[in-house]
Amino acid sequence: MQILLCFTILLSSTAAISVTHKSDLAYAACGSVLKKFSSDGSVQPFCDLSNQPAVGSMALCLGNSFGNQNEYIQPYLQACGMDENDFIESYENATRYVDRKDSNGPVSVSADKVATAWEDLYQAGLNDNYSIWFGTALLSYWLVVMLIGSLNYWSHFLFPSFVKSLHGPMSNWIRRFFILSPTFGHSHASSSKVHFKVIQAFTPLRFESIVIIGWFILCAIFCGTNIHPSSELNAAASVGNRSGQLASFAVPLLVLFAGRNNFLQWITGWPFARFLLFHRWVARIVFGLLLVHAGSKTIALKSFGAYPSFLSQGFMVAAVIATVAAGLLIGHSVQIFRHSNYELFLIVHYILVVFFIVGSWVHTNDADQAYAYYAATAVWVFDKIVRIWRVSLYGVKKAKVELISNEVLKVTVARPKWWKPFPGAFAYIYFLKSTFFWQSHPFTMVDSVTDVNTLTFYIKVKGGMTHGLYKELSNVPGKTLQINVLVEGPYSQPHSGRKFDTLVLLATGTGIPGLYYAALDLIRRHDHSTKKIKLYWTIRDIKSIAWFQDELLKLRGSIVQPIIYVTCPPNVESSQNSEKFKFSFSDDSGSGEQISEVLDFVEFRYGRPSATEIVCHEVQESNGSIAFITCGTPHLVDDARLAIVQSLAKDTTKRIELFEDFQEW
Ligand SMILES: Cc1cc2nc3c(=O)[nH]c(=O)nc-3n(C[C@H](O)[C@H](O)[C@H](O)COP(=O)(O)OP(=O)(O)OC[C@H]3O[C@@H](n4cnc5c(N)ncnc54)[C@H](O)[C@@H]3O)c2cc1C
Ligand SMILES: *[C@@H]1O[C@H](CO)[C@@H](O)[C@H](O)[C@H]1NC(C)=O
Ligand SMILES: *[C@@H]1O[C@H](CO)[C@@H](O)[C@H](O)[C@H]1NC(C)=O
Repeated sequence: MQILLCFTILLSSTAAISVTHKSDLAYAACGSVLKKFSSDGSVQPFCDLSNQPAVGSMALCLGNSFGNQNEYIQPYLQACGMDENDFIESYENATRYVDRKDSNGPVSVSADKVATAWEDLYQAGLNDNYSIWFGTALLSYWLVVMLIGSLNYWSHFLFPSFVKSLHGPMSNWIRRFFILSPTFGHSHASSSKVHFKVIQAFTPLRFESIVIIGWFILCAIFCGTNIHPSSELNAAASVGNRSGQLASFAVPLLVLFAGRNNFLQWITGWPFARFLLFHRWVARIVFGLLLVHAGSKTIALKSFGAYPSFLSQGFMVAAVIATVAAGLLIGHSVQIFRHSNYELFLIVHYILVVFFIVGSWVHTNDADQAYAYYAATAVWVFDKIVRIWRVSLYGVKKAKVELISNEVLKVTVARPKWWKPFPGAFAYIYFLKSTFFWQSHPFTMVDSVTDVNTLTFYIKVKGGMTHGLYKELSNVPGKTLQINVLVEGPYSQPHSGRKFDTLVLLATGTGIPGLYYAALDLIRRHDHSTKKIKLYWTIRDIKSIAWFQDELLKLRGSIVQPIIYVTCPPNVESSQNSEKFKFSFSDDSGSGEQISEVLDFVEFRYGRPSATEIVCHEVQESNGSIAFITCGTPHLVDDARLAIVQSLAKDTTKRIELFEDFQEW
C-alpha cells in the first residue's frame, strides 16, 4: 500500500509535465504574427467570439499557413474551449471580408512569416522537451540503480544457494574492487579527517562513488547538449532553462532519500545511511545545477538589459531566497556540524528546507516545474504521516530506564503483540521529558529474553539527550526511573546472515544488541542451516558485562560460542597473551569474579582483539559459506572490512559475506 502511494506521488510529478509537439504551436505562431490583436502575445483575444476580426484572422492564418489540417486547429480549439462549428463559420465569414481591406476587419498574414515564428517557438519548445526527457532519464538512472540493488538483495533470500555459489575469482574480484572497498584508503565507517578535523567526511564505498559520479556526468552532459536557442531565448537563456528544469526533477528524489519511510529502502534492503549519503551528494550536484541556472540566467537577462526589472519581481525574489537557502543547506550539512550538535543541525535543516521549497515553488508557480515542488512536498508530508502513524500505533508506553555500571542505560518497554522486531532493526525513541521530548534518537532493539512482548534497548551515555538521562538517573535511588516513551519503528531491513553455514558476529561495547539478536533469533527459530555461530564481543572491563549478563546467559548450551575480549582488566599477571585468564581481583568488589564464574561457558580473552586475525582465522576454519556481521567502533568495523576484502583475494573456495550493522549519519 505504502509502496503504491509513493510510486503514484513520484509518477504523477512527471506525468503532469507535458511535452510540446510542433503541431501544438501552430496557433501560437499565428498569434505571435497577428500582433495587431494581441500585443502581449496572449491567446485570449483570439478566443473571444465577439471579437470576430481577431478570431477570423486566426482562422485564416491556420487555414492558409497550415492547410486547414485538423492537427493544427485542434490545439487552438482546445486552448480556447471553442466549438468547431463556430470556427468554421468564422473562417468562412473572414474569407468573405478579408478582401475588403477594411482596417477594422480580419487580416491575412504571410505564410513565410508564420513559418519562421513557428520554427522559433518550436526551438524553445524543443529545449524544454529535452529537459523533460533528460530529467526523466536522471530519475530512471536511480530507478535502474535501485532495481540492481533490489535484485541483489532479494536473491539472497530467494536463491541463497545461488548467491553462496558465487565465489569464483571473477565474482570475488568484482566484490573486492567495487562492492566492498572504500573509494580510497581503508576507512568507511570511521570518517577521514583532514586539516585538524575541520574537513571530515565518510568515504563512500567504490560502487557508491561510481553511482554518484555517473549521475553527475549525466547532469553535466544534459545541461549542455541539445540546447536549442531561438530568437527569443539565446543560448545562455536556454542553458538556464535546462539546468533549472533538471534541478527541479531531482528535488522530489532528494526529499525521498532523506526520509525515514522511503520505499526504496524496503526494496533494496540498503541502510538509511547509504540513502543519506546519496541524499547529500545528489543535493550537492543539484546545487551545482542551480548555480548554472542562476549564472546563465543572469547572463541572459543582462544581455537583454532586463536584469534589474526582473530582479524586483516577486518570483525572482523567491528564486534568490531559494538559492541562498540551498547554499546554506549545503554548507551547514557537513559532518562537523552534524556531529557537533545533531538536534540543532536538524532544526536549521528543516527551516532552510522550507525556505528552499517554498521559494522554488513560488518561482516556478506558472511553469510545469511547480509540480516537482508539489511532489517534493507530498513525499515529505507522506513521510511525516507514516511517522505519526507508526508512533500512534505503538502508543505512549511506560518504559523502565536503568543506569547500569554507570555507563549504559537499559530501556525496557512493552510492545504491542503484533509489533514484530527483527535482528538488526532499530527504532527511534522519544523520551517524554520536558527537556528533550521533541528529540528522537535511533537505537537497536533486542526482543526481551525474559519477558514476552517486550523490547530492550541498550544506550551508551554520550553528550546530549543520553547525558541528560544519565544525570537524572544517577540522582535517584536504585538508578531506575519509569519514563513515558514513544517508539517509532521498526526500521531497517533484515539481512540474510542466517542463510550462511558459519556466522561470525563482531561487536564492541553497545554494538552488541543487534548482533546478539541475530544469534538469539537463530536459536529461537531452531534453524539448523547455520552450523556455527561465533560471537566476539569487546568490552572495557569485566564489570561492563553486567548490563548484558541476562542475555549472555541465554546462550549457554546453544550453538553460539561467545568470546569476550576485556581490554582494561585490573592488575592481572601474565597479561600479555590472549589466553583464557583467571580474574584475581584484589582491590575490587568481587563482581568481576562472580560474572566470570556465572559465565563459565564464555571464553574470556585479555587485550584488544585484532579484527584482521579473527577474520583470517575464521575464514580459514570455516566449512562452507561464511558471513560476518559487524557493529562497534568504526575502527573495528573498518578493520574487519579490510580483512574480508583481503580474504576475497586469497580464498575463492567459499562465499565470504559481510553485513555491516553499524550505521552513522
Ligand atoms: C541505526 C542506528 C542504531 C543505533 N543503535 C544504538 C544502540 O543500540 N545503542 C547506542 O548506545 N547507540 C546507538 N546508536 C547511536 C545513538 O543513536 C546515538 O549515540 C544517540 O543518538 C546519541 O544521543 P545524544 O543526544 O546523547 O548524542 P550527542 O552526544 O549529542 O551526539 C553523539 C553522536 O550521536 C549522533 N546523533 C545524535 N543524535 C542523533 C540522532 N537523532 N540520529 C542520529 N545520530 C545522532 C551525533 O551526530 C554524534 O555523532 C545508533 C545509531 C544509529 C544511526
Ligand atoms: C463577419 O466578419 C466581420 C468582420 O470581421 C464581422 O464584423 C461580422 O460580425 C462577422 N459576421 C458574423 C456573422 O460573424
Ligand atoms: C565440512 O563439512 C562436510 C559436510 O558437512 C564434512 O564432511 C567435512 O568433514 C567438514 N570438514 C571439516 C574440515 O570440518
